Amino acid sequence: MCGIVGYIGYNDTKEVLLNGLEKLEYRGYDSAGIATLNKDGINLFKVKGRIAALRERVDNNVQATMGIGHTRWATHGAPSEDNAHPHQSASGRFTIVHNGVIENFYELRDAYLNDVSLKSETDTEIIVQLIEVLHQKYNDTAEAFRQTVALLKGSYAIGLIDAEDQDTIFVAKNKSPLLVGLGEDFNLVASDAMATLKETDRYLEIHDKEIVIVNRDYAEIQKLDGVAIEREPYIAEIDATDIEKGTYPHFMLKEIDEQPPVIRKIIQEYQDDHDNIKLDPEVRKAMLDSDRVYIIAAGTSYHAGLVGKQFIEKLANVPVEVHIASEFSYNMPLLSEKPLFVFISQSGETADSRSVLVRIKELGHPSLTITNVPGSTLSREANYTLHLHAGPEIAVASTKAYTAQIAVLVILAVDTAQAKGINLEFDPLQELGIVASVMESLTDQKETFEKIAADFFTETRNAFYIGRGMDYFVVQEASLKLKEISYIQAEGFAGGELKHGTIALIEEGTPVIALSTQKNVNYSIRGNVQEVEARGAKTCIISIEGLEQDTDTFVIPHVHELLTPLASVVPMQLLAYYAALHRDCDVDKPRNLAKSVTVE
Ligand code: F6R
Repeated sequence: MCGIVGYIGYNDTKEVLLNGLEKLEYRGYDSAGIATLNKDGINLFKVKGRIAALRERVDNNVQATMGIGHTRWATHGAPSEDNAHPHQSASGRFTIVHNGVIENFYELRDAYLNDVSLKSETDTEIIVQLIEVLHQKYNDTAEAFRQTVALLKGSYAIGLIDAEDQDTIFVAKNKSPLLVGLGEDFNLVASDAMATLKETDRYLEIHDKEIVIVNRDYAEIQKLDGVAIEREPYIAEIDATDIEKGTYPHFMLKEIDEQPPVIRKIIQEYQDDHDNIKLDPEVRKAMLDSDRVYIIAAGTSYHAGLVGKQFIEKLANVPVEVHIASEFSYNMPLLSEKPLFVFISQSGETADSRSVLVRIKELGHPSLTITNVPGSTLSREANYTLHLHAGPEIAVASTKAYTAQIAVLVILAVDTAQAKGINLEFDPLQELGIVASVMESLTDQKETFEKIAADFFTETRNAFYIGRGMDYFVVQEASLKLKEISYIQAEGFAGGELKHGTIALIEEGTPVIALSTQKNVNYSIRGNVQEVEARGAKTCIISIEGLEQDTDTFVIPHVHELLTPLASVVPMQLLAYYAALHRDCDVDKPRNLAKSVTVE
């Protein structure tokens, strides 16, 4: 949520900031701004809206060799120019960008800022005003910055510039992601390496409650008490072309199409020279040592967890609970004696999941993160990490990360089963290979899904997806995809549960999409279709080879019954994509959302 970029060097900073913000727009896009500093002082440009609007607002005649920028996902205060970052102190000397939530901002305001008239409704402005107040006391910006940061409670990634110092960007971090990029004759600050890959691939990790003094030629990490910390930089292994759309109209469509190669990459990464599964032995041991797995995740990753539970229980015989991260802390279940916590997170930055990780670490329980971003917070802080190898996912609606999560969960479950000596009657890697080919045949039939989407979703305000067993988990994901990008109110329902109340919502023409890929429920889900048809629903049945009937709308080629979610979600993703297109929605950047949810 919210993206930050900073540059300090010898070239003009505008393009670096604007390009970086464009790459970070997935983190929030309701308002944006940049502030640059040159000998004439601060140049501030802010808009309500997207980076494209900011580009138009920025005065191209202004040249400066340092600056900070921000793209916002509103938390405190509605999206507006006043609430857009950067924010400035009363005198205009200090300018700040911030990502996160300051929990004690009312207290700080009341304790220190009674004489200051605030210009915005944001918690961020409190920070910059406080720096100015404390600067009056310490007469030193670094000290005022450190003292201010020490007073903050909550999450923050901060970039600060002082109009009287053209040589420094002051940086601080707690819980919210932030990196320092290192270049020849310049340095950068970014929420995500993707923002600045064009400039450098060398980054310095910043840990929580650290401060960084960033100059043109060096970046010094300090503890809050000012003591310097040595840390080696690392190379970000992201291919810059992975974050371009290429010839695709949208990242989402590109990422849907990338699913077969991602599955093949996962097979390759988790396979040894003898075609057996290769997994970190420590992860295997953690699985074998645990008497119950607790999967913690949010949104789409939670849906992948629901599927993963089936693999781990059915194949490896280990009990699994799946929990929504944001609820876990309030409704913490009675834990087993030897729990293993598995965090599933595409970004590895989801604040709700992280707060559970912090809690369970305090309790001394082991943890594994399954993520697409190995250097992310959840990955660094958990005991073990499994990498999704899906490549950067840019579209806000998650697609390839979901299938990658499921594939890695298959690997984890199979590895545990094999380590326990359980004989599986199928070759999992070979079956995953078949899934990749089936996915390809599905993505090749885009026109079919475009037509179904036009037929079912162009006019409607609501829709239902129904499924049973494994299909129930997939229809929950299908409905999330549809609602988040097309704004159609959609529900993914257990087929048998509909008649216990929700069937009252079915009217003449209500779209109901039924998924049937499981032999044991094929008959009963079709019965549910009859029930809704009898009440006027317009139905679409997506089934699988071997279970199909003449009246089915689409039949998915055969895959192993346990692995059907990997295939059956693809038509669902494409239906949502085309529904959004037909309704003229912004597919990659749906309203009110952001990709990386770094606030609780
Ligand atoms: C939906 C979507 C979200 C994320 C959720 C968790 O398409 O992308 O529901 O799955 O915000 O994010 P991660 O996986 O990064 O923890």
